[in-house]
Amino acid sequence: MSIVGKDIIKEFGEPPVRVLHGLNFSIASGEFVSISGRSGSGKSTLLYIISTLDDPSQGSISIDGRNFAELDAAEVHRFRNEEVGFIFQFHYLLEELTALENILLPARNLGRDEELKPRALELMERFEIPNKTNSFPKQMSGGEQQRVAIARALLLKPRYIFADEPTGNLDSHNALKVMETLREVNTDMGTTILLVTHEEDFSKMADREILLRDGLIVDERQEMKL
Ligand SMILES: Nc1ncnc2c1ncn2[C@@H]1O[C@H](COP(=O)(O)OP(=O)(O)O)[C@@H](O)[C@H]1O
Ligand SMILES: [Mg+2]
Repeated sequence: MSIVGKDIIKEFGEPPVRVLHGLNFSIASGEFVSISGRSGSGKSTLLYIISTLDDPSQGSISIDGRNFAELDAAEVHRFRNEEVGFIFQFHYLLEELTALENILLPARNLGRDEELKPRALELMERFEIPNKTNSFPKQMSGGEQQRVAIARALLLKPRYIFADEPTGNLDSHNALKVMETLREVNTDMGTTILLVTHEEDFSKMADREILLRDGLIVDERQEMKL
């Protein structure tokens, strides 16, 4: 079980500007991998391609041995809805819903909110926000809101979590808390985590780092030579 990228090239605009220059990588099931590098190095672009939210201009992504471009619409839909959880820098919680309702949103869309309520409450307990069940996002700290977003991403037990700078908007205490939460999810639930971050300390918390510079993967040896 893995996600494999082959010769991934991404270009934007006309005339095309190339921002990813032929990347090769493999992410095994159960790994916690960070994508790091400076602002503008192509981290988000790569994450969106790996998570199938965007297509590469050239090259291929295969998921568990199957070329993603060849999956039919129903398979793509199932992958994105059931196997993947997304976390972004801004949590995108709905302000008019409570924390619990926000966490249950993916279940509500499937008509499974009653069934999954115990799991939602269990996740809140685990992430140390159990007393926030009926709080609205505005009544919570940034770190608590982000933990609600993580619980929402985990509700349907996805195999993959894709996170784009989930700590980017938080103070260092809350950022660390979110990182510890992701670490725990990886260790205890075996969820494969792909984390984009420009913060070196957090990047080092992953099992493995994919370091980008100007749309290229830089390995550690090259890094030392420069
Ligand atoms: N939709 C887009 N259209 C045009 N250029 C883009 C688009 N998305 C990203 N880019 C460019 O691609 C490069 C990499 O961006 P991005 O992946 O967001 O970097 P990072 O996440 O590392 O900060 C940047 O030069 C950015 O301006
Ligand atoms: Mg980015």
